Amino acid sequence: MKTRNSLPFLDLLGHAEILDLTALTPLPRLELDLGCGKGGFSLELARRHPDTLVLAADIKAGRLKKVGNKAVRQKLDNVRTIRCLGWELIAFQIPDACLDRVHVLCPDPWPKDKHRRHRMLSSEFMQRLSTKLKPGGIFHYSTDDLPYLAWVKEAIAPLKCWIPCDDGIVDMADVKTEFELLWEREGKSVTHLTWRKA
Ligand SMILES: C[S@@+](CC[C@H](N)C(=O)[O-])C[C@H]1O[C@@H](n2cnc3c(N)ncnc32)[C@H](O)[C@@H]1O
Repeated sequence: MKTRNSLPFLDLLGHAEILDLTALTPLPRLELDLGCGKGGFSLELARRHPDTLVLAADIKAGRLKKVGNKAVRQKLDNVRTIRCLGWELIAFQIPDACLDRVHVLCPDPWPKDKHRRHRMLSSEFMQRLSTKLKPGGIFHYSTDDLPYLAWVKEAIAPLKCWIPCDDGIVDMADVKTEFELLWEREGKSVTHLTWRKA
């Protein structure tokens, strides 16, 4: 644990052990905002759903410290910040069948062919992610990048564990992330899609 701000982030980078959720929360619902960036979405989610523990996860410590500080200032005690690699978190650190909803919003699209392996989402990631959601759990993805959007749809389509749905984020449909606002200011539109775990 880092202790420099009043909401210390859990540093899971490179850790192999499974996260102890019983030590983390007595709340009935758990949502993950993976690649939370400045955390506006995570904080609004926590504000709207006091019965939910929101895991705001990112690889960048500086961003997480700011999210943690904002959570404390806004008196949101149902937010935890986690420093992690998305892949490690999903593959090794999150227990099975514990998440109600996962948000991956405006992830880096890595548009060049030679960098594509850095994309967070892939068929294997989605397969593993499905085991971490409770039955009926929701995966929420957004992007402004049309090739990345097509790539994700293609990766998920053959996976029987995911069913496209259009009611996965009705409670949050009016909330825009910092990057979504940025893209919209540049005249780009951001698409949101949701899938339900079968
Ligand atoms: C383009 S920003 C989007 C931030 C936020 N979701 C939004 O929409 O405003 C992508 C975020 O993902 C984080 N990120 C990139 N690769 C990651 C990884 N492998 N694991 C965890 N976070 C990652 C970056 O640090 C950055 O904060």
